[in-house]
Amino acid sequence: MGRTANEWAQKPPLPETHYVDSLVYTDEGIFEEEKERIFAKTWMLACHESELPEPNDYRTYQHPAGVNLIVVRGEDDGVRSFYNVCPHRGNTILYSPSGNAKRMTCIFHAWSFDAQGNCVGLPREKAGYCSGDDCSITRKDLGLRAVKTQVGYGGFVYVNLDDECGPLEDHIGPALDTIIEQIDTEPLEVFSYHRAVVDTNYKLWHDTNSEFYHDYLHVHNRLTSMKQEGYFERKMIPFPNGHAEVGSQEVHYEAYEGGKGRAEAGFPGVEGNPWSLIDLFPGYSYNLRASVLRVDSQIPLGPNKTIVEYRSLGLKSDTEEQRSQRVKDNLVIWGPFGRNLHEDLLAVHGQGRAIPNGSRYVLHAREEDSTIHDEVGMRHFYAEWSKRMGRPAGDPMQELEATGSART
Ligand code: FES
Ligand SMILES: [Fe+2]
Repeated sequence: MGRTANEWAQKPPLPETHYVDSLVYTDEGIFEEEKERIFAKTWMLACHESELPEPNDYRTYQHPAGVNLIVVRGEDDGVRSFYNVCPHRGNTILYSPSGNAKRMTCIFHAWSFDAQGNCVGLPREKAGYCSGDDCSITRKDLGLRAVKTQVGYGGFVYVNLDDECGPLEDHIGPALDTIIEQIDTEPLEVFSYHRAVVDTNYKLWHDTNSEFYHDYLHVHNRLTSMKQEGYFERKMIPFPNGHAEVGSQEVHYEAYEGGKGRAEAGFPGVEGNPWSLIDLFPGYSYNLRASVLRVDSQIPLGPNKTIVEYRSLGLKSDTEEQRSQRVKDNLVIWGPFGRNLHEDLLAVHGQGRAIPNGSRYVLHAREEDSTIHDEVGMRHFYAEWSKRMGRPAGDPMQELEATGSART
């Protein structure tokens, strides 16, 4: 028998760690606070170094805290990031998602900047801006706003808006140790990039990467890997700062009808066909499977709008045959048009449609000794989220009432 409205609104009879209030996915006030307390203070993955192969190559990056950034390779080979905001009168400097610019020139009054953020051109400077001893403003005062940037963990470019933040290594900790030899021995290269905007909350997509109970969503998983010996015994390994290794195993591709061994184009130190999936807080996944490293990013644009990005990588040193195998495997199985992601999309889109219009609590209560169908991965994520936000995800309106956000 279904529940009445009153029953539906009751907190579930579970520990507060085992469910979240649906408002964490829908409330504008909570989203604004996430920008401040999480995104503006955390190392965020902006792109991969191979997307900036030459000096003065740049990419623009929509940072989840709301700021648009320029990520650019300097002539000294260093990768740096800056606010995509002109220090003169606040115009956007670069509009293209990517390009090469020896001088990044603002169209408004033609101030220009180099890849180190210096202001290197300022029309009629002497006529209007003093440059003598008594001058109160110099070119040094007119540079771009720099953002902390580190390249690592497979050559990814991480940025942090907080000038006081600790190093990237402190944030990642041991989370990527399982795959570090594979991804950090030789330079990697992005060979496929896919991006889409989905009407859902970024955490909902990250949640699907944190739990495998949704194997039942995936036709191929039901028919293949769920039948593999040891599948249900795999353990989720939690790490500090909300990261987790949510599943690693050897995959027997040859056991699948039409399958074959996939190790010909692997990664350094790899024997056989291991598969590892590591989730990084607050919205990244490293998914290393035989011939392809796929790294996913969820970039929120609002409580119910998310950019999802998929980068698939191989080795920069790939032969033509190795690369074509990776491309084929990515297209057929691992990539956005492959085996599983279209089914994940149906589920998170369905959540994005229903949760703002009637959901009250979302359950993360399944316990199975931290093995693969245990929902402990989500509980681990929301423990970190609750710590950063200063309130439990199961009761998130404790302090927001003063700001006017509330369930309507
Ligand atoms: S606003 Fe950019 S040069 Fe004036
Ligand atoms: Fe999935």
